[in-house]
Amino acid sequence: MNNDSKLLIDKLEADGALSPAEYLFLLENRSPETAQYLFERARTVRQRIYGDEVYTRGLIEFTNYCKNDCYYCGIRKSNREAERYRLTKEQILECCAAGYDLGFRTFVLQGGEDPFYSDEKIADIVRAIKAAHPDCAVTLSFGEKDRKSYEAYFAAGADRYLLRHETADCDHYGKLHPGEMSLQRRKQCLWELKDIGYEVGCGFMVGSPYQTNECLVEDLLFIKELNPHMIGIGPFIPHGSTPFAGQAAGSLELTLFLLGILRLMLPRVLLPVTTALGTIHPAGREQGVLAGANVVMPNLSPLNVRKKYMLYDNKICTGDEAAECRRCLAGRMESVGYRLVVARGDYKAV
Ligand code: 5AD
Ligand code: FES
Repeated sequence: MNNDSKLLIDKLEADGALSPAEYLFLLENRSPETAQYLFERARTVRQRIYGDEVYTRGLIEFTNYCKNDCYYCGIRKSNREAERYRLTKEQILECCAAGYDLGFRTFVLQGGEDPFYSDEKIADIVRAIKAAHPDCAVTLSFGEKDRKSYEAYFAAGADRYLLRHETADCDHYGKLHPGEMSLQRRKQCLWELKDIGYEVGCGFMVGSPYQTNECLVEDLLFIKELNPHMIGIGPFIPHGSTPFAGQAAGSLELTLFLLGILRLMLPRVLLPVTTALGTIHPAGREQGVLAGANVVMPNLSPLNVRKKYMLYDNKICTGDEAAECRRCLAGRMESVGYRLVVARGDYKAV
């Protein structure tokens, strides 16, 4: 193994941070041996805080309507081939009830930026979920909203908000999104969410078109500054009906390496293995947990809408019942020495 890399990994574990040049060195000089060392350190750090527990969140993809047109995304508004759907409040509550019986204690409402769901509608849904399941956490994830909207959902009982920043490099952001969207606004949302009191998650795609190691260094620096409770990362996977149809997918190897780095940077962070990671490699999710991740997010959406929430091609688990995914994931986690638990899975603060 490259001894400089090993020293940097030790330094990252000790200090929780490196200089930009040091992050770049680690990324540029990756090797299987360095990665194994990084993962071993990441597992030790994770074990100290979270033991062998893996938290699970029930994902409810409640709308695939979206007013945005991100170049990478399969549910972008210009994709005329996407068959659009919306779940009713009753359908969402049914998903939660079924999920509760399966042992889920966190529900994640994820969707496109869909103006149909007014702030009042969202607040009403959040209140209904919390009334039915007071012991559960509700996580929201449907993009950029005004501060007062975020405040209204929080007042209704929402606990957490996921908003991937997608890339912390301004030029790169401009290559992934049309001109109406801005990195500055995106970051502002994340700071507002934190200020309101949410547990906040940011994140990015690995191997998105035009991404360089320098972009990834920007991501790491921004994440350290934001100090989020959760970080969602997964490989970019092309979708055939988007402008990025012909682009290469991100790699398992780099995604795992970044999971390891993130665990050492923010030892307490909640780090999911994403469906995209399971899509690019059959053992991606197991390997993700072995690299430092500690959360899985199986799908609770009704089976008849699953195939319509296609952010990228070949997404896994679109034909499997929630119970089947839960059983499958429990087995996968056990196969690598971890266990799924029935718990809200809150951030463990010091
Ligand atoms: N490949 C991988 N991830 C994607 N996302 C959107 N499109 C793709 C794609 N083609 C991710 C984005 C978004 C999250 C919900 O899904 O990072 O924030
Ligand atoms: Fe869905 Fe394995 S997690 S089938």
